[in-house]
Amino acid sequence: MKLFIDTADIAQIKEACSWGILDGVTTNPTHVSKTGRSPRELYSEICRTVNGPVSLEAIGLNADQIVAEGRQLARIADNAVVKVPIMREGLIAVKRLAAEGIKTNVTVLFSPLQALLAAKCGATYVSPFVGRLDAVGHMGMDVVRQMKTIYDHYGFATQIIVAAVRHPTHVLEAALVGAHACTMSYDVMKQLFEHPLTDKGIELFLEDWKKVPRDSSSAI
Ligand code: E4P
Repeated sequence: MKLFIDTADIAQIKEACSWGILDGVTTNPTHVSKTGRSPRELYSEICRTVNGPVSLEAIGLNADQIVAEGRQLARIADNAVVKVPIMREGLIAVKRLAAEGIKTNVTVLFSPLQALLAAKCGATYVSPFVGRLDAVGHMGMDVVRQMKTIYDHYGFATQIIVAAVRHPTHVLEAALVGAHACTMSYDVMKQLFEHPLTDKGIELFLEDWKKVPRDSSSAI
């Protein structure tokens, strides 16, 4: 499963890149607003920093606006992916962008039927927001499982990015469901490395190592 970071913070993106596990970035208007930077140069910098798809969100509400914006966003870099909210006009735009070979990520998606429509329109990715579903009493990951079943039944190439994840267990569930990717905050990504038993185990080994007779001029 691919691991994407969900942020527009360049320092976080660079740090996650250095960990060797980062496959791409997803941004959204909320993330961009927190940076205080102009999207044009911020987007170019993110696309240059990451070796993988970078989702950049279109803001227009009708198909013509979204297509125009999508073309501009796609011109920023070869790895730019146009994020389009799921709505009728959005899907009309996705179909047109797909016909031009522009990659899309259909976002703010909450139901398997929305995912079916996005795939039929040629979306490259869909982003179900599992954490927001869980927050209103739904089982977010059940929705992802249903999407996966539909895509597998009909052989759709659209990839599922599990989004709005809130904790490492969401990442685990996404991998078990067979999602293609999972996008998460910097904090959740950092947590994936951690386990209290690992800390304890390392501590114990280091304590025992102190009892081993060694030559002080050698590293081992
Ligand atoms: C994903 O692509 C979205 O940017 C993101 O996961 C939004 O979710 P959140 O704002 O609920 O975390």
